[in-house]
Amino acid sequence: MKTLQEIIDESRKIVFFGGAGVSTESGIPDFRSEDGLYRQKYTVSSETMLSHDWFFSHTEEFFKFYRDKMLPLWAQPNAAHRKLAELEQKGKLLAVVTQNIDGLHQKAGSKRVYELHGTVHKNTCLKCGKRYSAEDIAAAEGVPHCACGGLIKPDVVLYGESLDGDTIEGAVRAIAAADTLIVAGTSLTVYPAAGFVSYFRGKSLVLINRDPTPLDSQCDLVLHGKVGEILSGINV
Ligand code: APR
Repeated sequence: MKTLQEIIDESRKIVFFGGAGVSTESGIPDFRSEDGLYRQKYTVSSETMLSHDWFFSHTEEFFKFYRDKMLPLWAQPNAAHRKLAELEQKGKLLAVVTQNIDGLHQKAGSKRVYELHGTVHKNTCLKCGKRYSAEDIAAAEGVPHCACGGLIKPDVVLYGESLDGDTIEGAVRAIAAADTLIVAGTSLTVYPAAGFVSYFRGKSLVLINRDPTPLDSQCDLVLHGKVGEILSGINV
């Protein structure tokens, strides 16, 4: 922790790269831990149910699973989200790059957030382009349709879909400009997201993760623990 505090004290351009492990302390299960979403028994794998093809071929089942597991609108930011917003407000953090779609970083006050896998808070009619909120989707019965009759699709990156170009560019620029990159709460197993870390050219590469990751050996500092707890001990 002392080393982490020293690194943060001397950093002016921190970028935070996070995954589902950043939101578990808000009560949202991650994907690949023991109690993760992908460990729960379903007739069809979660990766299948969260795929582009399944969305169009089994739309009713998609929305049942999606409402059930991907719309934790009750969740509140935890200490990790709050500390990152504070670091940005104090001019020490350039951006948050997240694989999460829960919007908790913005809810905590973070301004520059690159959501590599989109967000549940943006939903678009495929026919007329009208925008709907996550609350609209949660409240709708069955398959949500627009007033124009079109199908409404959540703006989240489903398996088989590509990431948004502008988001990629912004995230890569931020990581390439950072003096410190903090990677946290991610198993670094899903590409292209996991590959973004390779754009880092700065001084300190820090990993905060409960379980080991493929990146551990390349880091200047590795902390195995809860990211919310660890960051709450940092003075900005
Ligand atoms: N503090 C620190 N690390 C944690 C915490 C915590 N409180 N809780 C969980 N972790 C760690 C776990 O040890 C695990 O290594 O976070 C990691 C979560 O890994 P995954 O469940 O694989 O989540 P993530 O890496 O975000 O998955 C990437 O997979 O299905 C896709 O689109 C989905 O964005 C997701 C992507």
